[in-house]
Formats: sequence, structure tokens, C-alpha cells
Amino acid sequence: MKIIDIIDKKKKGLELSKEEIHYFVNEYTNGNIPDYQASALLMAMFINKMTPNETANLTLAMAYSGQTLDLSDIEGVKVDKHSTGGVGDKVSLVVAPIVASCGIPVAKMSGRGLGFTGGTIDKLESIEGFKTDMTIDEFKSYVKNHGIVISGQTDELAPADKKIYALRDVTSTVDDISLIAASIMSKKIASGADAIVLDIKVGSGAFMKTIEDAEILAKTMVSIGNSLNRTTICIISSMDEPLGFGIGNIIEVREAIEVLKGNGPKDLVEVCLTISSIMVYLGKKSNSIEEAREIVLKSINDGSAYKKFREWIECQKGKLSVIDNISEYRKASNIDIFVAKEEGYISSINAQEIGKVAMLLGAGRETKESIIDPSVGLIFEKKVSDYVRAGDVICQIHHNNYGNIDMIMEHLNKNINISKQKQTKSELIYKIIK
Ligand code: URA
Repeated sequence: MKIIDIIDKKKKGLELSKEEIHYFVNEYTNGNIPDYQASALLMAMFINKMTPNETANLTLAMAYSGQTLDLSDIEGVKVDKHSTGGVGDKVSLVVAPIVASCGIPVAKMSGRGLGFTGGTIDKLESIEGFKTDMTIDEFKSYVKNHGIVISGQTDELAPADKKIYALRDVTSTVDDISLIAASIMSKKIASGADAIVLDIKVGSGAFMKTIEDAEILAKTMVSIGNSLNRTTICIISSMDEPLGFGIGNIIEVREAIEVLKGNGPKDLVEVCLTISSIMVYLGKKSNSIEEAREIVLKSINDGSAYKKFREWIECQKGKLSVIDNISEYRKASNIDIFVAKEEGYISSINAQEIGKVAMLLGAGRETKESIIDPSVGLIFEKKVSDYVRAGDVICQIHHNNYGNIDMIMEHLNKNINISKQKQTKSELIYKIIK
């Protein structure tokens, strides 16, 4: 088999066979296909789209490109969760300890920021000492002993995703239904979960821009999961404006802690409660999602969720003194404010562009080599449909002597709109697909 023939076939829009897809994934993972040929094939897949068969074969080839975890010796239904990525999406930091505190083992592999979206691993690494890089044995021992682990992508589990994910990020081939489905589901299958909850974000700050596309992605992933005996449920949730108030790594950790302590912004709390409840239900701790919600609320209200969060941070070597002093930890040296120019109601906050602003400040990567600044980002004081008077603060800009703050202000001005009429917010959770 030759990679050039496979590229040529996909360029002509023909369906690739299982053998051709496995050849590409294995040879690229092993370093025998160069990035330029892999990029050409990814772009051909992106432009000509893949059939359900091709998507399923790509997922399996990626899932089995390294080792797969067998968690059957750990008691209970192991439930995993993944989001397709958004702006201000710190949901994993909240739901993992909630669900673990309800007695369901959470074994999760997460990613770094992708494009304008933030990544759970970057957020966790803003806590001094927190270790996301680990061996399979360490991963298993965390789940066994503490009922919770979140690791980064590894060279052992789904290594093909680690390589292809990084290449997609820099070749404009991220926002494709088949490539996203294969990337997410390969990680979930390799990391051994029995049940999977997927949060498919839709809107300006998501890779899926329409509910129709989000639904196709949901159905694709549910069908792959169920065909491999992993019960899979998707929620489709709004990413038209950033989720919660904060965007930026340590800023998002602070907000996640607020939710675990029973506070936090309404939209973020609602998404966290919905996902945790589905996970608790899939973990067989309740007879219905509604009953699971009561269990989840109790674990937040009686402090068990936050207690589990502290245990988790400590077991993955994060410093608890940081958590206990989080409001003062890693504060940026400068805070500027962006204010309303006129009176009215906020009609839109373009989440994708806000994600790019956070990236420019240093919260995300412009190139593969960029180093993240954990302290910088944005904190909104107003959200869509809120009333503002001229001069009211809409958001704070946390930065470390950023050189061109006027450009940041201009960008915010273009992407936060005010109208005289109050806008109804888009729905937060559009659909649940089983
Ligand atoms: N998250 C992933 O893990 N992969 C994607 O392709 C997009 C979001």
C-alpha cells in the first residue's frame, strides 16, 4: 500500500477501505508517513467528507493505535465525559469531582486548548505541581485509590489522536464531524470507560455552528459508542456566548471551585448539573436522571464534591495551599476594564472572538510552541440580555503588561453588541440524544 494512492483516492471523493485507513493511522503514528502527506490526506477527508463506515474505521484504528485500558478490575460502572470544546468551558473540572464524590469512578483523558477553545489540561496545569502526564499504571492507581483521574493525551493510549490532533490544529482541519467524532471516541474507547457522556457545543464559540451539524455529530458518536457496548448519551448545549463569567486558565479554576462550593454563574451551574446527573444515572446510582440530580445537589450542598476535588488535586500532586488561597493565586499584574459605550441590553457576545482575545493575552497558544500564561484572561460582569448603562463594566481584562491593549479594546468593541431591545437568550441545553 502507498500513502500517495490513498491520498489520491480520497482526493477523488472515493470511500477508503478499512485496510487503507488502518495503514494511514498506524504508519503515521509510527513516524513512517511525514506530516505533509498526513496533512494532505486530512484535508482531502475534510473537503470530501467521510462515510459512516470510514468514520467508524478511523475511530477504531485510532483507538487501537496504542494500548487500551482494561478497568474491569475496578468496581462500578466507569463513566467518562468529553466536550467538543468551547470558550469558558470548565465543566470537566466541576463534574469529575462531583461524580466521583457520588461513588462513580471517573477515568478521563483530556486535551489541551485547540484553536480558540480552552483545554482542561492547560487549566489543571495552572495549579502548581498538578501532574497530567502519567503512565498507565499511575492512571489506574488513581482511579482505584481515589475514584478519579484526569490525564493528558499519552503516547500509550490512543497515540494516533495525540499526533493527528496537533496536526489538525495547525492545518485548519479541526471542525469536521468525522474527524471530531474519531478523535473523541478513540480516546474514550482506549481509556476504558463503560459509559460516556458527550457535551456537544453549538454556536459562535463552538466547532459546530448549527444544531443540525451538532445533531449529526451526536448521532455519529452515539452510534460508534453503542456499537462497542459503551452506553453513550450526548447533550447539545449552547456556546453562543462564553460559558460562565471567566475565560483563562487559573481564572476558570477559580470559577470551577465556586460551583463546587455551591455558588457560580447560573449557565455554568446548569450545564454541570445536567452532565453530572446523566453520569450518575449511567453509573447506576439512580433510577432516573431526575433522581440523579438530587444526589448531585446533595453532594455539592454537603461539601462532599469539594472535598473530593481537594483529594483529587492532592493525589495528582497539585499544591493544596494554592487551592486554599486561590483568590490570590497567580493574579495578573494588570486589570483593565471594558465598559459599555451606550445604554441598552447586551444582544450578543461572540464567543469565538472572545476566545481569540483570551488567546492573544496569552491564555492559549498561537503556535504549537507558544507558552501559556496561566494568570491572564477575561472576567465578564455582564452577559447576554443584561441591561447596561453607558460606563458600566462589561468585562475585566487580566493581563501582564500586554503591549497593545487598545487593539484588545477594539476587538471587544466589535464583538460585544448592545441593542435597545432586550434579547431573549438562546436555550442553554437544546437536546439530549441517546
Ligand atoms: N475535542 C477532541 O478531543 N477532539 C476534537 O477533535 C475536538 C474536540
